[in-house]
Amino acid sequence: MTDDVLTADQIQAVRDRVAELMPGVRADLEALVRIPSVSAASFDQAQVARSAEAVAELLRAEGLEVDIVTEGGRPAVIGHVDGPEGAPTVTLYAHHDVQPPGEDADWDSAPFEPVERDGRLYGRGAADDKAGVLAHVAALRAHRGALPVGVTVFVEGEEESGSPSLPAILERHGDRLAADAIVIADSGNWAIGTPALTTTLRGGLRVIIRVETLDHSVHSGMFGGAAPDAVTALVKLLATLHDDAGDVAVAGLDEGVAADLDYDEARFRAESGLLDGVELIGSGSILSRLWTKPSITTIGIDATSIEKASNTLAAKAAAKISVRLAPSQDPARAFELVRAHLEEHAPWGARVTVELTEKGAGFAADADGPLYDQARSSFRDAWGVEPVDMGVGGSIPFISDFAARFPEAAIIVTGVEDPDTRAHGANESLHLEEFARVCEAEAIFLARLGAQAAAAATAH
Ligand code: BES
Ligand code: MN
Repeated sequence: MTDDVLTADQIQAVRDRVAELMPGVRADLEALVRIPSVSAASFDQAQVARSAEAVAELLRAEGLEVDIVTEGGRPAVIGHVDGPEGAPTVTLYAHHDVQPPGEDADWDSAPFEPVERDGRLYGRGAADDKAGVLAHVAALRAHRGALPVGVTVFVEGEEESGSPSLPAILERHGDRLAADAIVIADSGNWAIGTPALTTTLRGGLRVIIRVETLDHSVHSGMFGGAAPDAVTALVKLLATLHDDAGDVAVAGLDEGVAADLDYDEARFRAESGLLDGVELIGSGSILSRLWTKPSITTIGIDATSIEKASNTLAAKAAAKISVRLAPSQDPARAFELVRAHLEEHAPWGARVTVELTEKGAGFAADADGPLYDQARSSFRDAWGVEPVDMGVGGSIPFISDFAARFPEAAIIVTGVEDPDTRAHGANESLHLEEFARVCEAEAIFLARLGAQAAAAATAH
């Protein structure tokens, strides 16, 4: 492009600078991964405080004015540095909390001891989302002493717990987060070597279903055959949530249209680890099933364990389900539909109670305009190929809060994840070459926004 806001030499200079910085960025990422900052309540919250402090220190070292804020939840870090006169402001988001590690035995190396194998850095949070934090730090370092734009960094400490105090943080400190563009580095790219802008995310609900059939547990020989046990009733009820094809059977939920990308069954099978012979569920394109249609997963069951099993009819049983929602779906309405379905399908008159524990809205970006153009150009600069628009099936519920609070801001969802990241699972990892591209793209994006504003100012 001849009318580009940056010359090829300027772009290359930013890339070279980031390449020099990557060893230090990686060392700082490893130090963050060593802090087991699990935001779930049953884990040591002193570690989340430590990780907030470590993030604050990284930002202070880049000359930002930094505060750690807590509004009844986990500590968030807010840092700010002004840009040149007239330059836009960019808010950079990531989260410093992580998911629980699960069973150590499922990991090939200790979850909080980062190690490299075959070009990937393994560890809980190595990708989701401590690499997001370091991508922002890398972009700041690349422009040390000559930042082209004003920058606010917002690193939350409870995203993996559904951001419960984020509305309160926005209420109290929201003015400090206002920006022309908000970069949310908590998603990923389409494939190794193919960058993507994430333009849709699903919303979600988490729901506990409790089933009771008896006043107390009784002998299965004396009463079995005429009285229903609660576990079987619960399983029958769960089975009504899908039809025979595996589509969600709750009536009335929204469905959207997925971004148009090629994704065949073979790739899905390889990436998901689906066992040979196990069928895919649902109908429509695979990407619509993953990105824009609802899905329901049973994520936990409370029932007598096999170890403790006796010949007894269980009086009660419970399950927790995770419901993913179309990007456009109102979560409160979705919960009413799920609740009505469960109550109507209670088998054998079993008592069913339905409790909503968490809800979050999805997101669909109107990804057009000059800021999105510069974001796409930055991806092209870093990877050397055209970026694609993609959806993700996961959720980042607070994005809709940001969109409501800052309706004029361009919300640009980026990230470090790739199809083999295994975020939330055992052996989570970061592809180090792709990570360097993410850092370059973000540094170039800041340069592009600064140059675009400067060009606009001289044109007037
Ligand atoms: N980084 C993920 C969101 C994501 C998932 C992006 C998959 C790209 C692909 C985020 O940290 C996350 O896991 N969110 C939770 C939200 C929940 C705790 C409310 C999720 O999707 O389960
Ligand atoms: Mn995340």
